[in-house]
Amino acid sequence: MNMFDVLYSRKSVRSYTGRVPSEEQLKEILKAAWAAPVARARYADMHLTVIKDQRILSAVEENMGRIAGKEVHPLYGAPLLILVSVKPKQKEIVNNEYSSAAMIVHNMALAATALGLGSCDIWGCLQAANERTDIVEMYKLPEGFVACCGIVIGETQESFPLRDIPQEKISTDFID
Ligand SMILES: Cc1cc2nc3c(=O)[nH]c(=O)nc-3n(C[C@H](O)[C@H](O)[C@H](O)COP(=O)(O)O)c2cc1C
Repeated sequence: MNMFDVLYSRKSVRSYTGRVPSEEQLKEILKAAWAAPVARARYADMHLTVIKDQRILSAVEENMGRIAGKEVHPLYGAPLLILVSVKPKQKEIVNNEYSSAAMIVHNMALAATALGLGSCDIWGCLQAANERTDIVEMYKLPEGFVACCGIVIGETQESFPLRDIPQEKISTDFID
């Protein structure tokens, strides 16, 4: 797939077969993550956690279910979650730290698409899980790191046709 085919066929996938990506695929996805730009090149302040442990995936989902008051599956049955954590310079994660984490997530999403795997950016349920020390402990993060966001990745039965990208899907001004 050329780069533009990857860009125009990437989509959020919310149904998975449950089959985990192969070790080779995972290596490629992580290499894409490591290739991402990070503000002020603070690579040492970013951390990835590759989670296949079903107990953690279920705990994140059950926490959202508790909040929603019904059974929900915000990880969509994906077999793999890659968590991106940040060591904030200040008390809380700030703009360029969030943005760096998003760059990393997006590089992984593009790599997953190129490999024919489904992926979906995950923010909401991970923010909620940060309120639960028992879940955060399971991440085994290095000292000072805070889980910021993540991506689920896995085999899907969905296909990846080139998508129609409407002109000005994002409103765009031109100033000459
Ligand atoms: C910062 C960010 C956070 C997101 N968080 C979630 C999420 O928690 N759960 C989810 O299902 N999708 C999440 N998404 C995916 C968006 O809903 C999706 O990208 C958007 O609807 C456009 O669809 P597309 O990715 O198929 O083009 C997130 C996307 C971004 C960029």
